[in-house]
Amino acid sequence: MTDLPKSMFAVIQKFDGYSGTATGPAIEDAADWVENAEIPVPTPGPGQVLIKLRTASVNPSDLHFIKGEYGQPRVKGAPAGFEGCGDVVATGAGAEALKGQRVAFVASGSGAWAEYALTQAQMCIPLRPEISDDDGAAQIVNPLTAMAMVEIARSEGEAFVVSAATSQLGKLMCGLGRDLGLKPIAMVRRPETVDLLKSHGAAEVIVTTEDDAVSKFAAISAQLKPRVFLDAVSDQLSEQVFCAMPNGARWVSYGKLSSEPPKLTQMGQLIFMSKQIEGFWLTKWMMSTPPEAQMRAVAEVQARFADGRWKTDVSAHVPLNKIVSDLAVALKKSDGKVIITP
Ligand SMILES: NC(=O)c1ccc[n+]([C@@H]2O[C@H](COP(=O)([O-])OP(=O)(O)OC[C@H]3O[C@@H](n4cnc5c(N)ncnc54)[C@H](OP(=O)(O)O)[C@@H]3O)[C@@H](O)[C@H]2O)c1
Repeated sequence: MTDLPKSMFAVIQKFDGYSGTATGPAIEDAADWVENAEIPVPTPGPGQVLIKLRTASVNPSDLHFIKGEYGQPRVKGAPAGFEGCGDVVATGAGAEALKGQRVAFVASGSGAWAEYALTQAQMCIPLRPEISDDDGAAQIVNPLTAMAMVEIARSEGEAFVVSAATSQLGKLMCGLGRDLGLKPIAMVRRPETVDLLKSHGAAEVIVTTEDDAVSKFAAISAQLKPRVFLDAVSDQLSEQVFCAMPNGARWVSYGKLSSEPPKLTQMGQLIFMSKQIEGFWLTKWMMSTPPEAQMRAVAEVQARFADGRWKTDVSAHVPLNKIVSDLAVALKKSDGKVIITP
């Protein structure tokens, strides 16, 4: 650590713990939740690595987190940002093999919206040279979730439903589904994105803002019989879609892009049609999936990014020192990820 600076620029959280609200991953002004700071560069302990940031992605989970609405509590004064790409510049005992490597990482020790991030060696994936720093910043959370959830869909039949299909994760799942010979039914809000989703692999596209969206979905559902609904929106329309699905359907809620709480209107379907409502969280998948299966998924993810079957659409690059002032405006474009740069 001798050639490293003692302090670094970081975007730190302004609050501790949970907020008790459920307002969704939208922000009016990043300054409501985070602030600029000069803080000490963290020192890696046993099994940890220090990473010099190249790029970090801004995921909905980052926004839920800084607002105190995510599955783990905030720590006031600690850098925000879960996922990124960078170079391992220092290692603790047992993590020496990663020294000097360019890695994709999920930050578990000190967040990614900083010049240096700290995490466990197991939370790093050395990157193939063909993978760009932008793709490296979004190499773990969404791609592994896509691999895991499309596998759930595949276990239940050919067709499956994907909401918020214009999201990065939605596009990854449609493409993967098509490549596996499945029939993704994509739900989008904006009619102008129908052709885009078809080019990404959707067999059918439903525009949720059209008045007859549910009846159109019901007709497609009767024909294709999707048994899995991979849902990032989780609002009342989601409930209506679930109700229009066939016997044995599973509503897998993995995101809460809408702040509207859905009301269950047909409980009898759970009893008489063997339908189920469940959640998916990548963190739990990582804890419960054997390491060999995770390594196979990681290798497939990198292969797909390396040969161009998957890519990260980027809407804007925002420097670290502009997050507080510019992030909220950058997030208003809905055609790709905002990528943070040092
Ligand atoms: N559970 C897990 O383990 C896990 C892991 C990874 C991601 N996720 C979740 O997966 C979802 C997608 O993540 P991402 O990184 O792919 O997102 P993203 O690329 O940032 O895209 C989100 C898109 O969703 C659409 N959207 C936003 N609010 C919506 C609403 N109320 N109703 C319908 N659509 C809405 C918008 O597209 P349009 O403007 O085109 O509609 C927006 O661009 C998020 O909910 C995230 O939290 C969960």
